[in-house]
Amino acid sequence: MILKDIRKTETLLFGGLSCIFALHRKGKLLDKFVITGGKKLRGKIEISGAKNAALALMPATLLASGKYLFHNMPELRDIATMGKLMQSMGVEVTKGEHLLGLNTFRVNNFEAPYEHVKKMRASIYVLGPLIARYGQAKVSLPGGCAWGPRPVNLHIEGIRKLGARVEIEKGYINARAKRLKAARISFDVSSVGATGNAMMAAVLARGTSAIENAAIEPEITALGEFLVKMGAHINGIGTTKIEIEGVDALHPADETMIPDRIETATFLVAAAMTGGNVKLENCCPGHLSAVIAKLEEAGSVIETGNDWISIKSAKTVKPVDVITAVYPGFPTDMQAQWMALMSIARGSSVVTDSIYFDRFKHVPELLRLGADIELNNNTAIVKGVKKLTGAKVMSTDLRASASLVLAGLVAEGRTEVLRVYHLDRGYERLEKKLQALGAEIQRVAGQEY
Ligand code: UD1
Repeated sequence: MILKDIRKTETLLFGGLSCIFALHRKGKLLDKFVITGGKKLRGKIEISGAKNAALALMPATLLASGKYLFHNMPELRDIATMGKLMQSMGVEVTKGEHLLGLNTFRVNNFEAPYEHVKKMRASIYVLGPLIARYGQAKVSLPGGCAWGPRPVNLHIEGIRKLGARVEIEKGYINARAKRLKAARISFDVSSVGATGNAMMAAVLARGTSAIENAAIEPEITALGEFLVKMGAHINGIGTTKIEIEGVDALHPADETMIPDRIETATFLVAAAMTGGNVKLENCCPGHLSAVIAKLEEAGSVIETGNDWISIKSAKTVKPVDVITAVYPGFPTDMQAQWMALMSIARGSSVVTDSIYFDRFKHVPELLRLGADIELNNNTAIVKGVKKLTGAKVMSTDLRASASLVLAGLVAEGRTEVLRVYHLDRGYERLEKKLQALGAEIQRVAGQEY
């Protein structure tokens, strides 16, 4: 019955989104946010499902033919992009409100073309499942992203170790294998995506594989748990050493997405910046220890329950240094938002990104709003200013855009954040949730730039 319901809304949501994104592509429709700063955020909102968990679990369905139903799915542009990619492979995709049905009975195309991968690097997640289940995969190399190079050598290393023959030709990763064989994969760098791909490849390999220096981000734990639901034999989920005993076949399973920890943390910072008092529901405080500790250092009072967090912000923000690190450290996906908070702190702080050295596209835009930031390589020295002032600023990537919205919420006067399609990749109806908390923010549709 649920699938019938979700089919009814499919045309409206999935088709509608594709149409809007097609227009975006032609550069005809670029929404912007218009924000009038100065409102304290108050009230409560619900956090959506985790984008990065959903983007790993959707391709995992390629590992076994059949019907899957995902609950608590975030309604995001990246999810629509992954849906389109999977449709191009023959997967039947049906969509309802926070529901996604996938039917992988008729997978007949094993290619992830550049058109999809260039839009979203997580498309590379199809590599592991395709090579494991179908013995072939052709996946476009993603190239760089807005803030710098993003290599995929570890993804390739993982499947090569498992016995796949991999060639790089004309911008594509071409992989072939009869049946993968178990291997010991020891990653030099902890990588979320490469760990996910290696896991999805190893679950159908012959023998017992080990993945060392595996990523332990909650989204990878969620992937491991889903694979177990599908019949995989995995030990050490959530640790840096994962052991996988390959099985001959897996079966479909349903899943509920974990809450999005980056969306949660972004709203916490929004509350702290605006002097607000906010409760976030349907979230997972346990995934956010590092961010919560830093917010407490900055002066906020935070209470947590099983699936909620409340924040009571201080009158002034204390300066607090952060260095991004792999989980459970401070997430690189919160670096830009933290810098926005520090730009109005009482004093100077140092923000270092040790995961992505070039992820600082937000700095020149924050400067346009009156922030005082000096950037040296991957370290920013942020001198808190008394006030930010509204201006037009440009979104460059997902988290950079979020930091500009946060800055706009406290900037004096009117801030316009242009090209918010970046935000739509990873924040579900951000402006609606902020409005529900009392912010003065509007989406202005269809601007031509
Ligand atoms: C994932 C998240 C992204 C987050 C990032 C780090 C998804 C869809 N995206 O991205 O939001 O910012 O984790 O938490 O889940 N690296 C290599 N070679 C590789 C792969 C990665 O050198 O083959 C390096 C990267 O340059 C980076 C580090 O490893 O310095 C971590 O990147 P990784 O964990 O792989 O990020 P993603 O999985 O792409």
